[in-house]
Amino acid sequence: MKKEPKRYTITSALPYANGPVHIGHLAGVYVPADIYARYLRNNGKEVLFLGGSDEHGVPITLKARKEGVTPQDIVDRYHNIIKESFKELGISFDIYSRTSNPTHHETAAAFFTKLYNEGKLIEQTSQQYYDEEAKQFLADRYITGECPHCHNEKAYGDQCEACGATLNATDLINPKSTLSGNPPVMKETKHWYLPLDQYEPWLKEWILEGHKEDWKVNVYGQCKSWIEAGLHPRAVTRDLSWGVKVPLKEAEGKVLYVWFDAPIGYISATKEWTAAQGRSDWEKWWKDEETELVHFIGKDNIVFHCIIFPCMLKADGSYILPENVPANEFLNLEGEKISTSRNWAVWLHEYLREFPGKQDSLRYMLTSIAPETKDADFTWSDFQAKNNNELLAIFGNFVNRTVALTHKYYGGVIPEMGPVTDLEKEVLEQIRQFPQRIGDSVERYRFREAQAELMNLARLGNKYLTETEPWKKQKEDPDYVRSILHISLQICASLSILCEPFLPFTAEKLQKMLNISNKKWIDGGRTDLLKAGDTINTPEFLFVKVEDEAIAAQVKKLEDAKKANALANAPATPAKDDITYDEFQKMDLRVVTVLEAERVPKTKKLLKLKVNTGVDEREIVSGIAEFYEPEKLVGQQVLMLINLAPKEIKGVKSHGMVLMAANADGSLALMQPGKEVNAGSTVQ
Ligand code: MF3
Ligand code: ZN
Repeated sequence: MKKEPKRYTITSALPYANGPVHIGHLAGVYVPADIYARYLRNNGKEVLFLGGSDEHGVPITLKARKEGVTPQDIVDRYHNIIKESFKELGISFDIYSRTSNPTHHETAAAFFTKLYNEGKLIEQTSQQYYDEEAKQFLADRYITGECPHCHNEKAYGDQCEACGATLNATDLINPKSTLSGNPPVMKETKHWYLPLDQYEPWLKEWILEGHKEDWKVNVYGQCKSWIEAGLHPRAVTRDLSWGVKVPLKEAEGKVLYVWFDAPIGYISATKEWTAAQGRSDWEKWWKDEETELVHFIGKDNIVFHCIIFPCMLKADGSYILPENVPANEFLNLEGEKISTSRNWAVWLHEYLREFPGKQDSLRYMLTSIAPETKDADFTWSDFQAKNNNELLAIFGNFVNRTVALTHKYYGGVIPEMGPVTDLEKEVLEQIRQFPQRIGDSVERYRFREAQAELMNLARLGNKYLTETEPWKKQKEDPDYVRSILHISLQICASLSILCEPFLPFTAEKLQKMLNISNKKWIDGGRTDLLKAGDTINTPEFLFVKVEDEAIAAQVKKLEDAKKANALANAPATPAKDDITYDEFQKMDLRVVTVLEAERVPKTKKLLKLKVNTGVDEREIVSGIAEFYEPEKLVGQQVLMLINLAPKEIKGVKSHGMVLMAANADGSLALMQPGKEVNAGSTVQ
């Protein structure tokens, strides 16, 4: 048997501060980590729950460049959005820090220095792409070129997004620097490496032998294939300017690799947290064998948290190692991969705005579909069903009936227990088992199962009320009804305690309603928590229905994202064959002024326009009625081909053609001069 730890250090992956967080992050990392932290605290354990923004790395600098702002501007913006939205969802971090903080820069640099001084790093030179005009080495993302597999012209130096292939920058055909647009040259550069190969025997023993039983199958499996494929020295520095400066004279212009500094962010956050309380005992959370370290992450972070960071900690030698790394698989949205660039996501800050007061509904949904063993799918109709048919119809309905009847029959005073039958004995016995049952699942990181057990307690209550029907017995058997409500109230109290890790907002409301506070997890199994004679407060709805309209609006939002994305990625129409200047000159193109406009009767698309061409006034028919109101066109200047042979369209003679841009979504846009010109101005 493992010894009971003295305290827990719980980390959650630091999200990159280059965008807000979405439901995939929440279901994979933050909601389970929060449940675990809250559960342990309710059990009286000493817990430090860490979070923070990961503010380095190339995607942040690329985004800054694209927007014409500094990387610091980008991370400031998203750090605040992320931090606020986590808080609003009730993610109970003890500290939510950020890696641009000075404490972090010092901590990460010192970590590197110690490894360097002790000879734990090796130096290697290599050839890297370099932009001679920008005078910069080029990170993979700064190089684009043709993919050798699918011949997509816009593949990146690390990956082709068209075919998904993982690439090396040197694989690209005709590589170009995104900084200057020039082809890069090869140049020698020196970097420091962590020799992972030297840790192979130790990793085999520690993970492959030591954690075969207790680590999740998906996590263990990934570690095993990494280790068995053979580990190689891994560079921990980069030629970049944004990041933690490498603390060596000879390393001018180099920073620590983002995956070297980011996990040290957990340690920096601990230092900030203790310092904020005027203490300096951060080490007990990281260096005391009696502390249990647990990392909550998504599956794409497994190698960093199970292999690289532990090797860093081991190389230092004074740190504890993670006891478990309960990584989750991915969450899809409506059957498709969540994608930030395609805006195929449900963003937390938007959800909070669009579903005010429904934090627990989202938490409940995400836990009930948590991708614990395989990828899972979020659909809006499922969200609605879980809220309306489970939270509201089972949990909410049970509590409401109990509290309402207590007010109706006893004026809100908890009744004395009356006579009991075998049914009551059975129900009371069952209540006692719940803290253990739910706790066992939580301790094995099976949060989905744990929450399902919690709902079974609400189901037990609901079923008990439905079977005993106190509302039918109050007249003939009021003594027995007292028992029914006394027991139902005890179930409500248990629910208010045991739901806290999962549904913290509901727990607070319910405990207020029942006038209880400061209870421990184990109290959730007591059947004497509420005392006869005490009063409860007026009922309040715990959950609110999610209406069809709200779901329709969300589905529409996703459809719009899909359309916008299709448009952004629509291929251009292929180029036509060359023509001569003389051929071009045959076209009489002019700016004309619209004098009158009206719909062509019995058509959807056609407008009849009267225009001033400078040489005459004439009528033409144009297919723009779906995109422009006739009234608004009068007085506007548009581009027209005036010598197109006249043609009759729907009974109206058209003398020429108004020119339009045809957008990829099928919409049309008039071509208009950049400033007002004379009617009849020619185009050349
Ligand atoms: N920013 C990384 C990601 O989103 C996670 C960093 S976790 C840490 O994938 F350990 F490095 F902090
Ligand atoms: Zn490709």
